[in-house]
Amino acid sequence: MVIRDHFNSRIGFILATAGSAVGLGNIWGFPFSVGNGGGAAFVVMYLIFCFILCYPIMVVEFAIGRKTQKDAVGAFVALGYGKWKFIGIMGVFAGVFILSFYNVIAAWAFGYFLEIVRGNFSIGDSFAAFTADWKRVGSLSFIFMGLTAFIVARGVSAGIEVATKILMPTLFLIIVGLVIYAFTLPNAMQGIEFYLVPDFSNVTISTVYSALGQAFFSLSLGMGALITYGSYVQKNQNLARSGVAIVLVDVGIAFTAGLMIFPFVFYQGLPPNGGMGLIFATLPGVFSTLGSIIGIVIGAVFFLTLSFAALTSTVSLLEVPVAYVIDELKIDRTRAAWGTALLVFIVGIPTMLSQGAVPELSQFIALGGSQVKISFMALVVNFANNTLLPLGGFFIAVFAVYVWRKENLNAELTVGDPDFSGSLSQKYISFCLRYVCPVLLGLVLIVTISQTYFGLNLLEKIEALFA
Ligand code: TRP
Repeated sequence: MVIRDHFNSRIGFILATAGSAVGLGNIWGFPFSVGNGGGAAFVVMYLIFCFILCYPIMVVEFAIGRKTQKDAVGAFVALGYGKWKFIGIMGVFAGVFILSFYNVIAAWAFGYFLEIVRGNFSIGDSFAAFTADWKRVGSLSFIFMGLTAFIVARGVSAGIEVATKILMPTLFLIIVGLVIYAFTLPNAMQGIEFYLVPDFSNVTISTVYSALGQAFFSLSLGMGALITYGSYVQKNQNLARSGVAIVLVDVGIAFTAGLMIFPFVFYQGLPPNGGMGLIFATLPGVFSTLGSIIGIVIGAVFFLTLSFAALTSTVSLLEVPVAYVIDELKIDRTRAAWGTALLVFIVGIPTMLSQGAVPELSQFIALGGSQVKISFMALVVNFANNTLLPLGGFFIAVFAVYVWRKENLNAELTVGDPDFSGSLSQKYISFCLRYVCPVLLGLVLIVTISQTYFGLNLLEKIEALFA
């Protein structure tokens, strides 16, 4: 019997999980959702969801993992509820699909780093041509997946823990440095005002909906990534308290990323709601105006940071199917890591080709009676991120409350935290799990499924009621 590898220290566990949480979702997704969602009011809602919805689910995932010392599928079997292993199976699929496109976007970030190092600032204007260049995107994705597999193959303590202990502090220092620099630019304060002064008149139900989705994705929930990481945590760790630290790091980095992006955007007089292009299409232009040397340094450092943040997340996404292959199919870690990575790369090929390279994939399918065909990548995002994750989260909450039950959850959370039982945090977690999480995730599922697959825009209908 192989002894299960564990995180060696509390800080190692917190940094690895924070590394999973902090990713493209924070540095790329969060600012652009804030921009589209009207600024600070979005930020406020995001924070609320992190604490009332995400934190309790995070703690449940940790508890299930640590209790069973198993992968996301095996954990449900080990608890004695084999019927519920479908949650873990959905998670393994979600991991493969999310990683298949996440790795492609990470590869763009890495590719931008290489371009800016060479002084090619016009890459921002050729964003579309860049993503359509399948040879380049394909080889960059291959390299990025290789880096991910390399870390995962080395194992939990020697690979994941060591890599995140180096990458996370570096990431943090670089972001703080970039924020300080951004603040010195003309019009920086206008950007900060947009970002930090809430205007609740801009808030619609859709804003609330996207803040929730953003929070859930950002904390890596709903697919057993944190069950898997929880299975590597030692029994003397305080799960509830570590969870708070992880949420704070994640929120803190997303927030700090905004402090850097909005001054850049307003300095150039660009609209803050640039969407997905906010970073790739507009920032290189911003960097070019900083002068050739400073522009290259700041720009290269920025895209390198984005690549680092993505790397600690791709590692956690890969670890979910890899842990499954190791624990359930009894294959050794090296082969499991490289084999799964290759599979995910192959699954990602249509996604790589769907950003302009192959027209049939770029306009692939019209969902829910819509006239507009979305790309293969958008289909995967809709299916894995927007459907599988809330579904997984919903079932995890229901499982914890009605099947595994509060007593067992509390018993596991008390291990490493003798005061937990009967504490305020225990009451808070139990309350949210029973009344907040299933309701919110259930509503999200109804809205998402009716909109994506049946073309019924419930949010618009509800907004019309209030208009
Ligand atoms: N949280 C990461 C981000 O914000 C992405 C991520 C990594 C993830 N692992 C996950 C999302 C597991 C959902 C589930 O970029």
